[in-house]
Amino acid sequence: MRITTIIVAILSLFLFISCGNDNESQQNRSQGETQNGLTEFELEHGIGPVTERVELGVIDPEKVDKGRSIYEMKCEACHNMEGRMVGPALGDVMERRSAEFVMNFILNPSGMTREHPVGKELLREYMTPMPFQNVTEPEARAIVEFLRDHSNN
Ligand code: HEC
Repeated sequence: MRITTIIVAILSLFLFISCGNDNESQQNRSQGETQNGLTEFELEHGIGPVTERVELGVIDPEKVDKGRSIYEMKCEACHNMEGRMVGPALGDVMERRSAEFVMNFILNPSGMTREHPVGKELLREYMTPMPFQNVTEPEARAIVEFLRDHSNN
């Protein structure tokens, strides 16, 4: 008799917990979550510190130069403009991805390959995880400027 009471109590506890989870996921969905638990912004622009659209404007030659020197120092070991190396070619990346996506990839590569469908697919394809290169957000913005300038030429 006592054992049945305990079992019933445990079962209702489980029921209670799973109902709680249901409520939680409903709440998340209403806060803008879509498939994989990512928001629409994250699906299109990546997961990381950049959570709002970045104002691009006309290409700023000073940022291009700064971006180029960081790129040569921290990215060229694995990336080429044309053609695949350790990582994908970056010459046309601004046509494939948004500026925010590229910045989030630079600033949060492990999160992107762990949680974002595009990042997961890239890791599957390239089989080497891109390491974080100690790049700040303004530096990532400068790299984007350099990559934008490259696709304009
Ligand atoms: C040790 C090698 C390595 C270094 C260094 C590296 N990357 Fe990567 N990168 C990769 C790999 C490999 C991928 C594919 C995803 C993965 O496997 O992690 C990638 C993916 C990317 C992507 C996504 C491309 C796409 O098609 O969406 C961008 C953008 C990128 N890297 C930019 C950079 C920039 C900018 C730097 C320099 C700050 C850099 N990477 C440094 C290896 C590297």
